[in-house]
Amino acid sequence: MNTVKTVRELRAAVSQARKEGKQIAFVPTMGNLHAGHAALVEKAAQRADFVVASIFVNPLQFGPSEDLDKYPRTLAADQDKLLAAGCNLLFHPDVAEMYPHGMDGQTRVSVPGISEGLCGASRPGHFEGVATVVSKLFNMVQPDLAIFGQKDFQQLAVIRTLVRDLNMPIQIIGEPTVRAEDGLALSSRNGYLNTEQRAIAPLLYRQLQAMAAAIQAGERDYPKLVEAAQQQQREAGFKPDYLEIREANSLRPASQVDSQLVILVAAVIGSTRLIDNLAFDLAS
Ligand code: PAF
Repeated sequence: MNTVKTVRELRAAVSQARKEGKQIAFVPTMGNLHAGHAALVEKAAQRADFVVASIFVNPLQFGPSEDLDKYPRTLAADQDKLLAAGCNLLFHPDVAEMYPHGMDGQTRVSVPGISEGLCGASRPGHFEGVATVVSKLFNMVQPDLAIFGQKDFQQLAVIRTLVRDLNMPIQIIGEPTVRAEDGLALSSRNGYLNTEQRAIAPLLYRQLQAMAAAIQAGERDYPKLVEAAQQQQREAGFKPDYLEIREANSLRPASQVDSQLVILVAAVIGSTRLIDNLAFDLAS
């Protein structure tokens, strides 16, 4: 596996693969890779002949009080994991390579509607930063397909929408969340949790499962379910951010007739914000 740091080297390597008739798959990441990322790369290797991954901690998607500086940078370990998962090329640009004209005047991509609410409400500007960097990366790599984790459910919906609206010829594939044995969704931010917080963290997924089971059993008083779960979060030591039941495709608040639903949660423990979600179909 080759690691390149410039767009020029990236384009040369990808165009060589194209000349050889290879299908290109792309897995964008911010590094500090775990088994969830490895699953995305493995999927990419099954679906295409040439797998490009990127590691770039994108300043544009971090708010001023967020963890940009402390976000873990673990390049050597990440390279080993990417290689083992079947990656052919790693693009690891620095900020000046991605934003050579600075970030202030950078053209932005914003995806209205689907970016609003949920993480969009708690993290103003976050999805504009994600949509902008993903658009840039897509133009740099020009993959046939790109793979994202469903753990960032709203992010995946934002990316599907931008690809549709900007007519990008890229197939977007969402892969199921990889979880620890106790149900906690794998995330680079889990590394911030101390032992006590780590023990409490799986509550979020248990709540999603319990809420989905209640809805499947006929419960339709969504505000009651949400209030009870957030109360339980507070008692366990979380600061609830949001807990919402939405229609799974549009992400609008779920009505009583919707059958494809997703429950999305964000809650803070200590100074770590965790998110998770569970999608299910009432008709099945
Ligand atoms: O999900 C992530 O790791 C990031 O938001 C992404 C898609 C790599 C864009 O920086």
